[in-house]
Amino acid sequence: MAVALIVAAGRGERLGFDRPKALVTVGGRPMLEWSVDALRAVTSVQEIVVALPSDAVAAAPADTTGVAGGWARSQSVRAALRAAGDGDPVIVQDAARPLAPTQLFCDALDELERSGADAVIAAAPVSDTIKQVGDDRRTVTHTLDRTCLWAVQTPQVFRRAALESALYEASEATLAAATDDAWLVEQAGGEVRVILAPAENLKITTRLDLKLAELLLAEREPVDRTR
Ligand code: CTP
Ligand code: MG
Repeated sequence: MAVALIVAAGRGERLGFDRPKALVTVGGRPMLEWSVDALRAVTSVQEIVVALPSDAVAAAPADTTGVAGGWARSQSVRAALRAAGDGDPVIVQDAARPLAPTQLFCDALDELERSGADAVIAAAPVSDTIKQVGDDRRTVTHTLDRTCLWAVQTPQVFRRAALESALYEASEATLAAATDDAWLVEQAGGEVRVILAPAENLKITTRLDLKLAELLLAEREPVDRTR
């Protein structure tokens, strides 16, 4: 059986509300709850742990375990993993991606099982050409080959042993620098595979993203909240 970790401990500074981003309302409910619902519909998920800011742990939804996150994202993942029971594999989901469909979690788990890899991550080929720009933030120094570039998202699913050793053996500096846990598994020599994420799986960073998410969630079937 799987355990799911939702990281929701960021402050959401770029979104700019007076509450943590995961608790900002989108589609009529706190952003975090969309991911909780998607994960509840995955039959192999036995437990959901949510990392929240230390002053907002009480906002963890019913039937989830709330824990205080860390000051960097991977520290929040580590705190949630430490609080989790013995489920394996481990699903990591950003609360900032409320549109991740249940099918994407299921596809990632199936690919982990089928491939024997250490991690499977949702990702999408980039549509913009990516250039490196120098420290002056003006001069182009290099243009990357777009055909092999994928933008990484969540969900990310891991064999528990691979994620534990990556998170528990990394230095605090490495954890602070990691914007993606699969990178930590790669650093430890693990095999990481991608699956194609649907275009709707956007991350809410700015007010524009929030507007887009509102439009997309308005098209979803109403959720039965009496369950
Ligand atoms: N996150 C976390 N703990 C942190 C930092 C981030 O759990 N110390 C989570 C966020 O809650 C979010 C996800 O990681 O679900 C992706 O982070 P990001 O989009 O950067 O969210 P914030 O850090 O909240 O936003 P900002 O960087 O604008 O403050
Ligand atoms: Mg952040």
